[in-house]
Amino acid sequence: MKIAILVLALVSLVHCDMYLHNPRGSNNRLDEARRDRNNANRLFDSQNNNRGGYNVGSLYYYAGSVLSIEWTNQHSCGDQNNHCEIIFQYMCDDNVRDGASTKTIPNNPALCEDYDCNTDLEYGMHESFDYYVNCRLRKRNRGLFSADRNLNNRNTARFTRQNQNGNRRGYECPEERDYYPYWHPTPWRDIAILTNDPTRCVMYQEESANVKSRFACEMPELYILLNINQNSANRYYIPNTQEECERWTWTDPTTSEEKHAVWREYRADSRLSAPECVETLWSRDNHLGNGVGGYTNIYNWTIPDLPHEHCVLRARYNISTGEYDGWNSSVNSSIARRNNVPVFNDNTNDLAGRTISELDVYTQFGFNTTEARARGYVFRQNPIVKIFPDPAPNSVNFGLQLAINTNQFGRTFQDRSHTFAIRSKPSDSDCTTIYNLNVRGKRGNIVQTYPGVEYDFVPNDLQVSIGSCVHIQWTGSNTNPNNNDGQGRAGTDRSNIVLLRNHTYAEGTPGAAVPTAEKNGHFGRSYPQHLDNDETFLGLSRSQRENLAMLSPSHYGGEMSELDDAGTYYDLGLARVTSKGTYYYLSTRNNNFTNRSQKGKIIAYINALISKRIGWNGGTISTSSGNLKVDRGTMSKPSVISIRTFANESEAQAMTSDKTAPGKLVSDYVQVSGLSTDQGQTATLQLMVSGEDFDRDTSIYYSDPNNGNVYRRLETRSVDGMVEAQIDQDGVYTASTAQVATFVTIATAIFVVLIVVIIIVATVVFFRVRRDKWHSTKEKVSSGFTNIKRSFAKKV
Ligand SMILES: *[C@@H]1O[C@H](CO)[C@@H](O)[C@H](O)[C@H]1NC(C)=O
Ligand SMILES: *[C@@H]1O[C@H](CO)[C@@H](O)[C@H](O)[C@H]1NC(C)=O
Ligand SMILES: *[C@@H]1O[C@H](CO)[C@@H](O)[C@H](O)[C@H]1NC(C)=O
Ligand SMILES: *[C@@H]1O[C@H](CO)[C@@H](O)[C@H](O)[C@H]1NC(C)=O
Ligand SMILES: *[C@@H]1O[C@H](CO)[C@@H](O)[C@H](O)[C@H]1NC(C)=O
Ligand SMILES: *[C@@H]1O[C@H](CO)[C@@H](O)[C@H](O)[C@H]1NC(C)=O
Ligand SMILES: *[C@@H]1O[C@H](CO)[C@@H](O)[C@H](O)[C@H]1NC(C)=O
Ligand SMILES: *[C@@H]1O[C@H](CO)[C@@H](O)[C@H](O)[C@H]1NC(C)=O
Ligand SMILES: *[C@@H]1O[C@H](CO)[C@@H](O)[C@H](O)[C@H]1NC(C)=O
Repeated sequence: MKIAILVLALVSLVHCDMYLHNPRGSNNRLDEARRDRNNANRLFDSQNNNRGGYNVGSLYYYAGSVLSIEWTNQHSCGDQNNHCEIIFQYMCDDNVRDGASTKTIPNNPALCEDYDCNTDLEYGMHESFDYYVNCRLRKRNRGLFSADRNLNNRNTARFTRQNQNGNRRGYECPEERDYYPYWHPTPWRDIAILTNDPTRCVMYQEESANVKSRFACEMPELYILLNINQNSANRYYIPNTQEECERWTWTDPTTSEEKHAVWREYRADSRLSAPECVETLWSRDNHLGNGVGGYTNIYNWTIPDLPHEHCVLRARYNISTGEYDGWNSSVNSSIARRNNVPVFNDNTNDLAGRTISELDVYTQFGFNTTEARARGYVFRQNPIVKIFPDPAPNSVNFGLQLAINTNQFGRTFQDRSHTFAIRSKPSDSDCTTIYNLNVRGKRGNIVQTYPGVEYDFVPNDLQVSIGSCVHIQWTGSNTNPNNNDGQGRAGTDRSNIVLLRNHTYAEGTPGAAVPTAEKNGHFGRSYPQHLDNDETFLGLSRSQRENLAMLSPSHYGGEMSELDDAGTYYDLGLARVTSKGTYYYLSTRNNNFTNRSQKGKIIAYINALISKRIGWNGGTISTSSGNLKVDRGTMSKPSVISIRTFANESEAQAMTSDKTAPGKLVSDYVQVSGLSTDQGQTATLQLMVSGEDFDRDTSIYYSDPNNGNVYRRLETRSVDGMVEAQIDQDGVYTASTAQVATFVTIATAIFVVLIVVIIIVATVVFFRVRRDKWHSTKEKVSSGFTNIKRSFAKKV
């Protein structure tokens, strides 16, 4: 019995895979006070460990603000050990809700209030009831790779290789869940795709439903209503090709009229653009931890300007082994099916009559199909392979069983956020950029929270500029397990923010090779800076800082030494950054030195700073001073590229030892860092030039650090009010015009000519008046000529 429990515990630990930490991923939780979630089927199919997820987590984000999506994934990504994609999407709908119960929303309208599951607030809901009905009645894509899973009499889209039994989770459509890009209309909008193979970005961006129509067969309403409770595995009611759709007829039993179906186009929403697509961030396999440099992997999402009060974020993590050449079969066929091209059938029967796949695991061993099948070199559940020829000379004829699970060799995990709102920026805000600053994690120590995480601020290390705003906001739960470690009242999450005292030693460089105090200094101490003198924190007002510390004004009085009487939700709103500096801060309640650390850092720069991770697929960074455009294929190594702009020279001087560019400056100074174009490749830098200063000679100059920071002119073109040049190096760039230089040259020339004329005139006048001086001067001049002759002779 003990062994059985142990085995069960191990099994449950094995299945832990993709968790959102910011925004807080639910992993199908609502607010249950247990370590395990109550119901893994509540809203979607995560295939994650029951212990993952956070209770409640609704926040709101301003349109255009930057939200750091933070997650951990178990089986590595951005690594040679498997193929990997991470797909971020979101959807908004008036009926999207977290619900009030941990029960799964019913599949039968009769079980919902007012016979309408779409509006029954008891149950959480993302996709709608009608969407699921359509999935349940729609023919499945038979071109999809199904390995040895028997889907023969399972003909609707709720059956897939990963969901052979057609189980339901919320109103998610299993076929849609497992495949991306999906060929049928869905309510999901694409945010970004991170992939190990960025050359696939071309396909992802072209095929995204953000920019490309989907088609579906629209049936008469009555026909759907009459079949709404059909759960048959075998029979489908909605065709999935144009041909079958247009052939379909049905006699309406109420009118005896013959009805047809319509192959309808669902156009892309013109307000959307293709999702971002970039290389995955590296993570280690079987290790739900941090990425390179010790920070949790982050994707910065710029919240779209499509306000809605009820939205949800979805992250899928798709992995497959090296054997699994999924992109030669499944996706091709999925695209083919959507475009209504006949689909090849990639399933055949093996000698025993079982369905195997053409997934080629044998030609690399020099086997033909017959021999491969005979020796077990096929893609099948737990195959027994004979590694010696049969019959083996001088050897026992034995086989070895491989642990191959055909529904997991290519596998998708998922997590979703709690619902959140997207709101328009306040009309009076003059923030250049808005950064969301949130709290992740839940009450407990590292073991109790796993596979969730302990408290921390997200982003933990934030870089902003004066004029931008920080939107500080967090939420938590009152129903964590009561025995989870933490300060304050049992079971509760609370946080606050106070400025830390300065560190004693300079902050260290993570992973520095030389262990000196300088390199291993503290990030901060554990005592807050007292607020009775002029220390500033981002330039926030006294009352803003009091609010952050005491969680006022939404809270008055009560027992607040450990914030117990405050609410779980806190919002400071937009705080404008007005003071430069490096600020360290902590949560006084949750910082328990040996057990937990909840500290963060913000660097506020004077100048504007914009960073973006760009890789093979390229991208553009736009600033008010100009743009950096990286074309597809020019950077085979992804990198976070930052652009800082300096409005005036004295600022830039701090960056460059020299030196002003020649002529009159007509743009800001722009500092590019992180650019790493491939050998012989360049990116395009465009600088905004003020209109009246623009002329044909306006050029971009580069302050060359390899040459004493002397400004070097770059080959420059002009394009609608901007100048552009090809660049391949980090450094400071600026545009200047030759106008001033030309003017100076002409002025100098006129001046010199004038002087010469004056001298000649004066000399003539002088010798006319003083003829006696002529002779002696002539002697001197002739000796001078001798000197000149000599020096010429020497030179030549
Ligand atoms: C996962 O990858 C397979 C190919 O290995 C592909 O067929 C499928 O569409 C992908 N699914 C998702 C959700 O990305
Ligand atoms: C899949 O698509 C690619 C690109 O369009 C094509 O080169 C390849 O032959 C296709 N594979 C199959 C099996 O159709
Ligand atoms: C598809 O399979 C062919 C033949 O095995 C291979 O040459 C090609 O590289 C594969 N394509 C992809 C995208 O993996
Ligand atoms: C497959 O390979 C085996 C061993 O090399 C050979 O005996 C057999 O004739 C081959 N079968 C076919 C159909 O090529
Ligand atoms: C710090 O945390 C540990 C473990 O949760 C707890 O035992 C200890 O009492 C805490 N320290 C203080 C001073 O509360
Ligand atoms: C903290 O350190 C910064 C830079 O090291 C310095 O400018 C600032 O004055 C210090 N503040 C305090 C309170 O010591
Ligand atoms: C918390 O810190 C104390 C003191 O070092 C230590 O004894 C205890 O094991 C820690 N508890 C946890 C849960 O980490
Ligand atoms: C996300 O944004 C932050 C703050 O702007 C930046 O420091 C970080 O490098 C960005 N990370 C990625 C992966 O783009
Ligand atoms: C340059 O800009 C900085 C920051 O905006 C400002 O403090 C400084 O006074 C400016 N210097 C000049 C010479 O304009």
